[in-house]
Amino acid sequence: MTDPNFNEIKQEALLLQEQLAEHNYNYHVLDDPVISDGEYDRMMKRLIEIEKQFPELSTPDSPTKRVGATPLTSFDTADHSTPMQSLDNAFNDQEIIDFHNRVAKLLETDEIRYTVEPKLDGLAVELRYEQGILTLALTRGDGTTGEVITDNSRTINSVPLKLTPPADGTIPGFLEVRGEVIINSRDFETLNKKRLEMDEPLFANPRNAAAGSLRQLDSRVTAQRPLEIFVYGTGLARGLEADSHSGLLDTLKTLGFRINPEIRTGLTLTEVLDRFKELEGIRENLPYEIDGMVIKVDDIAHQTTLGVKAKSPRWAIAYKFPAMEETTVINDIKVQVGRTGTLTPVAILEPVSIGGVMVARASLHNMDEIERKDIRIKDTVLVKRAGDVIPKVVKPVTAKRTGDEKVFIMPDRCPVCDSPVRRLENEAAVKCINASCQAQLKQRIKHFVSKAGFDMDGLGAKLVDQLVDREILHSFADLFTLDKTTLAAMDRMGDKSAANVVRAIENSKRVPLKRFLFALGMDHTGESAALLLCERFLTLKALETATIGEINDIDGMGPKTAASVVMFFENQENLAMIEDMVKNGVVIEEHQALVNNQAEGEGEGKQESVFSGKTVVLTGSLVTMTRSEAKKRLQELGAKVTGSVSAKTDILVAGESAGSKLTKAQSLGVAVMDEEELTEQLNKG
Ligand code: IVH
Repeated sequence: MTDPNFNEIKQEALLLQEQLAEHNYNYHVLDDPVISDGEYDRMMKRLIEIEKQFPELSTPDSPTKRVGATPLTSFDTADHSTPMQSLDNAFNDQEIIDFHNRVAKLLETDEIRYTVEPKLDGLAVELRYEQGILTLALTRGDGTTGEVITDNSRTINSVPLKLTPPADGTIPGFLEVRGEVIINSRDFETLNKKRLEMDEPLFANPRNAAAGSLRQLDSRVTAQRPLEIFVYGTGLARGLEADSHSGLLDTLKTLGFRINPEIRTGLTLTEVLDRFKELEGIRENLPYEIDGMVIKVDDIAHQTTLGVKAKSPRWAIAYKFPAMEETTVINDIKVQVGRTGTLTPVAILEPVSIGGVMVARASLHNMDEIERKDIRIKDTVLVKRAGDVIPKVVKPVTAKRTGDEKVFIMPDRCPVCDSPVRRLENEAAVKCINASCQAQLKQRIKHFVSKAGFDMDGLGAKLVDQLVDREILHSFADLFTLDKTTLAAMDRMGDKSAANVVRAIENSKRVPLKRFLFALGMDHTGESAALLLCERFLTLKALETATIGEINDIDGMGPKTAASVVMFFENQENLAMIEDMVKNGVVIEEHQALVNNQAEGEGEGKQESVFSGKTVVLTGSLVTMTRSEAKKRLQELGAKVTGSVSAKTDILVAGESAGSKLTKAQSLGVAVMDEEELTEQLNKG
């Protein structure tokens, strides 16, 4: 018995299918949603309900198919209609020039235009559409035969389940579209974070995460993974005419496919080489990983003349970036002691060149990290470098283990001062708690003299190390008694540089309260906390007698900072040290309360922000906002937001699972802010 309302319900289902497909396209292909997630979910729920009641309405192209289907027991395989070839690789400009010359010779013309595309580091797939409906999806496999991953591909929101008819209404009767399935870097980090919480093995990189997610027998699992696709070509296509590769991409775009926005077309050889440099430069800021650039002869007639070789076409080539991952051996694991006494294990590597930079050390962060990754001394490990960021040990290559590897044990005494170390409850860090430990003293002094502190130009890390080792510096106060003769006697110091350092010390003696507080290096008290303290207490005297409650009450301040500041000023030795500094000529300037622009009629009453004029770097994943939103807000508040940490960086905003940028920032004494602090500061701005 058919439902008397069947026709009406069928119309509703068709409308919902159409609307959901359009919203999905707006969101995932155009990146421009027009309805709220809630509304989308309600429509989807209703459609699922209808299709459950009338399974005949549940067509293969229904948006409900995006949630996954019944698990398989194994993957079927199927042949590609035409082989999915690979690309020849080039690693320098000359090899591209050679490619161009080969092409020019075969085409008997120099007038060649290229389309260049980022070489996405994911997994190649082929999607088959028959009469406009997605009917088959295959992995590349060996190029001839691939695995059938149709159910899984339907869960990828940027894969159209149905082609969008172009203006003239004709869709290709048979179309195979090829592209790369990826997971963007941010989603990759979030995915791994979740896996860590669930005690599941972590993916080594976004490519593995994409491959692992796509090759799931249970497509409902794939549906939960943030897979995306960019398409870059076709296989067999009937009813689709294009005379250029760029024209083909335009057509694919009209049919509803996602095309990478970094593709450039109509380029000459010189422009191709320029674009490569450009891509290398923006690579770090792209939301996904790329491993090079693909260069394609744009004219399809040219492509046909050039033809293909056994494994690759003659009309295209991949220009690869230097590899950023290499394997090497951990010769030893040494322990470094930081400013606050934290013991950091560092892998001493067999030096290896990664992307043209020799890498010999990599921080292993803490014992939890070593245990989680099961990194052992003498292990062969995969080491990764991104941009100018500190290298990171990704994982051990366990297949290379010989049995000679040794498990690393964190020492129970400080390797510098030999006092017992302590592991604080609920913290991954092990600390040396001897406040006069030389290693800590060195790091504290480096922080004290850094740009955001006393800004003693010329007093570099090597000089500080020597002054502490030779027992010339025992405290901050000693810095202000350094003279030219003492300094000139240090290694690699001449009279002139000694005089410069003395001048820098002299000039630093008048110090604003904010910089003074930062320089002290109290736990949990970076630049922004120092500013908040200044704004509330104005003078050092007032702050010295502040209570935990008073500090904690400051908007934007947390209990950890409050406790640490109060503890610091309760300590008589610290007060004596400040007194010594003052005796040695330090003048701590009272905080200048900010002028209220509004009172002066400057309109919006825009507050001075801790970010104005500052160079800020964002790292790790933020939970409450996207990185680009954070960037935008920071820029509005006058910050310069850059991609990599250097001595010029003023603030590092470290979201969850921040890695090497955080380590680098800490080693440079750059102020670090977490997401909570960031939001509070942004809200004030
Ligand atoms: S074109 C015959 N374009 O690189 C042309 N490939 O070794 C074949 N890839 O398997 C591919 N981005 O997985 C092409 N924009 C792009 C690409 C791209 C990534 C991958 C693809 C392919 C491999 C080539």
